[in-house]
Formats: sequence, structure tokens, C-alpha cells
Amino acid sequence: MLRFVLVFSLLFTLCLSSSAQTCSKFTSFSNNLAYSSCKDLPYLNSFIYWNYKSSSGSLQIAYRHARITASNWLAWAINPVGLQSAMIGAQSLVAFQLSNGSMRVYTSQITSYTTTMPEDKLKYDVSELKATYANAEIIIYATLTLPSNTTTINQVWQDGPVSNDNPEAHSLATANTNSKGTLDLTSSPDPSRQPGTNSVTPNVSASRSSGRMLTWVLLRFWLTMLCGWKLIHVMLF
Ligand SMILES: *[C@@H]1O[C@H](CO)[C@@H](O)[C@H](O)[C@H]1NC(C)=O
Ligand SMILES: *[C@@H]1O[C@H](CO)[C@@H](O)[C@H](O)[C@H]1NC(C)=O
Ligand SMILES: *[C@@H]1O[C@H](CO)[C@@H](O)[C@H](O)[C@H]1NC(C)=O
Repeated sequence: MLRFVLVFSLLFTLCLSSSAQTCSKFTSFSNNLAYSSCKDLPYLNSFIYWNYKSSSGSLQIAYRHARITASNWLAWAINPVGLQSAMIGAQSLVAFQLSNGSMRVYTSQITSYTTTMPEDKLKYDVSELKATYANAEIIIYATLTLPSNTTTINQVWQDGPVSNDNPEAHSLATANTNSKGTLDLTSSPDPSRQPGTNSVTPNVSASRSSGRMLTWVLLRFWLTMLCGWKLIHVMLF
């Protein structure tokens, strides 16, 4: 049993260090909200967090872009038109740091490929719009009101350079042109994630009790399976 625990502890530690950034480990939101769902986006070091009530269409989001400099803008958008022309029709939240240090955050509907992303209203009501820049990460917070009973959205996210306090055209690298996809807002929350707490931190005194110890071992096992099964394969076979 002890050996079993040690092997999985080791695998779990390796697993943590091999995937340093996953959405559910981050809980330090400056608006002190806890998000019940999150997803690691496949491009541009990005993560989306949300709470959603489909009956009212109320969608609270935090879009987080890690490893970004103060001379970059970023945007997160819903495109109700579709993902074919992901950019045209994007109902965007845009943020970047101004040269005086303040964050600028606003909404913009993208209507052309040569847009300068001027500020305008979206098709959706947007409130509690806010952005922060810290630790080389920008986070945009907003609450959007979608048509009620919406379940899936087309999301688009992007980053690009800022010059003289104005956003400039983004790169056409693969990561920038593939940064789009559908998001099922009703997908069940990550079970390893408890709102407001960092659930991967063990409670040392609790884990002394054997029942909880077993739960902890199982949790490690599933986390390992989720993010490190390839690693297990390498180590055991
Ligand atoms: C920075 O500039 C913006 C726009 O000109 C202004 O709204 C904001 O208050 C300024 N911030 C500081 C800290 O001066
Ligand atoms: C949303 O779904 C509920 C439950 O199925 C239904 O009662 C309501 O009429 C729907 N609202 C709209 C706007 O379709
Ligand atoms: C750890 O577990 C013990 C026993 O169940 C409990 O009294 C204590 O409050 C817990 N500590 C934390 C930080 O959750």
C-alpha cells in the first residue's frame, strides 16, 4: 500500500511539473469570484473560466492569457455568425495596458479584416467589464447576457501588438489563425475543482485518517490519469 501511494505521489508530482499551466489550478481572480467551469484553450496560452445560468443567459467569464507582455493587446469574443469567418462578426472584449499604466478594456464588434477595433456596443449586454495585468498575465472579466437557453457558443480569442496605445494587426501564425472553437457552456464543471479553493492542496491533518487518505490517493490517481497517463505508460512499461 505504501509503495502504491509513493508511486502515485511521485507520478502526481511529475504530472504537476510537466503541465505547469492548467486552468483549474488558478483561483486568484481579482474580482474574488469563483468560476464553476474552466477550459484550457489550445492556443495562445489562454484559459476561459465561466459561470452560466442558461435560464437567464447570464454568462460570467474570465478570459486569462498567460505569458503576455505589456505591449500586447488581447481579445476574447463570441461569434454568433459562426467560425468560418471567425473574426468577422466577433463580439469582442478587448484589453491592453496603456502607456500610462492603466488598463484599457472595452467592447468592439469586428466588421472587417482591417479593423482597428474601435469601441462600440455588442449584440449582448455587457457589464462588470474589467481587466488586470499582473505576473505577465492579462485577465478580462465580464458578464454577458446571452439569449436565454443558449447552450453552445463560438468563441474566438486573439492577441497582437500595441503601438502608441492602439491595437495593431495580429500575426497570421497558426496559433493566431486557429484560436477559435465551440464552447459548451453547460458542460459539467471540472470535478476536481471546488469553487474558491485550491482542491489539489492536501489537508495534511485530515489525510492522516485512512478513509480520507484513500480518497486522496484516488484523487491523485485520477489526476494522474487525466494529465499524465502517457507518463505512467513510460514508467511502467
Ligand atoms: C491613462 O490614460 C487614460 C486615457 O487617456 C485615462 O483615462 C486614465 O485615467 C489614465 N491613467 C492614469 C493613471 O493617469
Ligand atoms: C427556455 O427553456 C425553458 C425550459 O425548457 C422554457 O420554459 C423557456 O420557454 C425557454 N425560453 C426560451 C426563450 O426559449
Ligand atoms: C483539515 O482537516 C481537519 C480534520 O478534518 C480539520 O479540522 C481542519 O479544519 C482541516 N484544515 C483545513 C485547512 O481544511
